[in-house]
Amino acid sequence: MDKKIEGNIEKFIWTENYCTGIEVIDNQHQELFRKFDKCSLAIYKGEGKSILREIISFIDIYVNDHFDDEERLMTINKYPDYYKHIEFHKNFRGIFNSFKKDFEQRGGDAYLALQLEKEIRNWWKNHILTIDMLYVPYIKIKSSGKSQVE
Ligand SMILES: [Fe+2]
Repeated sequence: MDKKIEGNIEKFIWTENYCTGIEVIDNQHQELFRKFDKCSLAIYKGEGKSILREIISFIDIYVNDHFDDEERLMTINKYPDYYKHIEFHKNFRGIFNSFKKDFEQRGGDAYLALQLEKEIRNWWKNHILTIDMLYVPYIKIKSSGKSQVE
């Protein structure tokens, strides 16, 4: 049985602050929020190990799809800081890969569950609020959803 993490669970709630106004991106970010929120709740209830496995598989696929869509959008719209931005994505892949390695080696434990909240989840929070917001003014068509990144 996984060790239950005591204390208050911090809800990971989508607010207008995270809104880029780009439908496809906002939908993807919201999906991630829902997943993290489900994950926090499961960890709190002592189901950390199985939920960690689930979220790792989810992020594995999510990161490829989401980063690809974002990078395509920046390219199409000739975002001047494209290369700076993809460095942040690369940086996340590094953080996530070492998290994954720890999980494979040690299995899920309370420490790793906390790390998910502090490192992985907070990375997204900061990235969306500070880095993603920088490309927003450069994206010309914001509400046509998927068509702009296909
Ligand atoms: Fe990004």
